[in-house]
Amino acid sequence: MQQAVEIFEVGPRDGLQNEPAFISSADKIALTEALARAGLMRIECASFVSPKWVPQMADGAQVVKGVTPGTARLYALAPNMRGLQATLATPVGGVCVFIAATEGFSRANTNISLAGAVERVQEVIAAFKAEAPEGVRMRGYISCVTECPYDGPVAPSEVARLAELLHGAGCDEISLGDTIGTAYPEQVARMLEAVVQRVPAGLLAGHFHDTAGRALANIDASLDYGLRIFDASIAGLGGCPYAPGAKGNVDTQLVYDHLVARGYEIAGSPNRAVLESAARLARKILGRTEGPEDAI
Ligand code: HMG
Ligand code: MG
Repeated sequence: MQQAVEIFEVGPRDGLQNEPAFISSADKIALTEALARAGLMRIECASFVSPKWVPQMADGAQVVKGVTPGTARLYALAPNMRGLQATLATPVGGVCVFIAATEGFSRANTNISLAGAVERVQEVIAAFKAEAPEGVRMRGYISCVTECPYDGPVAPSEVARLAELLHGAGCDEISLGDTIGTAYPEQVARMLEAVVQRVPAGLLAGHFHDTAGRALANIDASLDYGLRIFDASIAGLGGCPYAPGAKGNVDTQLVYDHLVARGYEIAGSPNRAVLESAARLARKILGRTEGPEDAI
């Protein structure tokens, strides 16, 4: 048996944020609790972003406060100081800040230059360190780590620079996003070759959208560089409203089956059957059916 790998569940946030019809807080809470029951250790279930930008996430406070997480740790996104204050007013176990590796995506996703975004995020992390309750964790995302829908290919050195900056500012984990899901394993390897020179691999997570169907191959490339945390979304839900063409995050169950087949233990020992019922609930909430078991 190889070293344990953690699946960081992002379905209730990344998976749902792009859904056009509003999903009730009760459904978001039920989905998050189903994922917690399955044994996933960390679940990102809310965003404290502007509701004008992402209306689907407008009920973040109700969701985080409404979930009974059991042993799972809940995470939420905070884009600015206002988001941080709102996040810290809930019982989250982790706050996520996010930047992009490119100018074009930074402006599209957060209406600010990359330099401005870095400054804003540093301010948020500094306030977090001063104000967050003991034990609450800080995760940093970098989007478009290989390819940007606006600016094209991304230099690995730029991703490495930003990862080091987030780490230095106080992020205890940095998630590297193939936001549009088009990366090839060779590109992921080149990017990681640069990043692991600056940030220990154990603090990095792989966040692969699966648009081109290469997410599992990209996970394999990342395992070779020592990464042991992978973001995934139940039933493969997801996409980013500011990343044209971005399809769902890689499916949690696909990642689970792939890692188990490769001989890895999954941190928290999630229960495969309970994951399947969480996936059924996700599809039911979105009115999608797949296979006869969903008709039951
Ligand atoms: P802005 O328009 O430049 O900011 O947006 P603003 O300060 O002018 O605010 C606009 C309005 O939003 C104002 O309301 C603010 O009060 C309000 P008004 O005065 O017009 O009525 N506002 C807020 N409301 C609630 N909570 C807040 C907040 N801040 C401002 N925190 C801003 C700047 C960053 C706020 C905006 O661009 C934004 O919210 N962007 C977030 C976009 C987003 O959520 N994208 C998806 C998440 S990132 C992602 O999916 C990638 C990831 O999965 C990794 C990967 O795949 O690569 C993580
Ligand atoms: Mg994403």
